Amino acid sequence: MKQFHDLNDITEIDLLLDRARSFKRDPFQKESLGKHKTLGMLFFNASLRTRMSTQKAARNLGMDVMVLNLDSDSWKMEFEDGTRMHTDKAEHIREAAAVIGQYADLLAIRAFPTLSDREADRAEKILKGFAAYAGVPVINMESATAHPLQALADALTITDTMEQLKTKKPKIVLSWAPHPKALPHAVPNSFVKMMKQLEMDLTITHPEGYDLDPGITAGVTINKNQDEALEQADFVYAKNWSSYRDYGKVLSTDASWMITKEKLGNARFMHCLPVRRNVVVEDAVLDSDQSLVIEQAGNRTWVAQAVLEAILGRGEW
Ligand code: CP
Repeated sequence: MKQFHDLNDITEIDLLLDRARSFKRDPFQKESLGKHKTLGMLFFNASLRTRMSTQKAARNLGMDVMVLNLDSDSWKMEFEDGTRMHTDKAEHIREAAAVIGQYADLLAIRAFPTLSDREADRAEKILKGFAAYAGVPVINMESATAHPLQALADALTITDTMEQLKTKKPKIVLSWAPHPKALPHAVPNSFVKMMKQLEMDLTITHPEGYDLDPGITAGVTINKNQDEALEQADFVYAKNWSSYRDYGKVLSTDASWMITKEKLGNARFMHCLPVRRNVVVEDAVLDSDQSLVIEQAGNRTWVAQAVLEAILGRGEW
């Protein structure tokens, strides 16, 4: 693997997930692979899980790690070419990325969308800008449109749970859930792509106006009646996202879409976290044995380690 911008950079998903399982059993099996290599982690936005799990993964491989919070601890950055830089933006991505590439052997970047300009967000200017000018491989730690490390952890969680429960073809439901703020599409986009790649039985449910990018959901069952969609579900993945059509808008905060114990039935509950209790999902779900959210977060380390291993060792998966 030469880079990890999105799930299509993986050639053998089953092999990558097997490597993640192997690291889960034996985290230090490749503790010298990253010796004398540095991972530069760049954050334009907040993070708990991605920040800590990716650092842990890198250190398990013997890497050094440098973390820079670009939103607060560095110069404000210009991304447009050909501009006269006379405003508050002191540094251009061309120099910033090339300089950071002098200090790090691999870069990992978190850069959320504007949620105001759909085409600009789809262009992934920040992720692609660093990839173009840094001269080192770039890993996506959640970009404007994708969160592939989360999707890998979700896939590992589902497949391991299927193995424990001896479930062959589970019904998986991705349900929109209410939230007071406009949230990105990266997590649901990557989850849908991953479920399609694994040929899972996926149903998406959401209120009117919340259809995701049709280029991503093509071929997936969509049922706008949440009760019907949740019938016979084995896994329920709750997530809020803002409207894709009325880009970045909050069209509904309908509390009846919150996931309750009654709605969940016997299914397992999933969420990428952070989650707003009693807004997205009620306490009784999160505090029950049916919740997989902590396991999902734990699995973030093992999938990040598998991705780093594949790039460092140029693994063909
Ligand atoms: N799920 C996830 O990416 O968590 P953080 O935003 O805390 O990194």
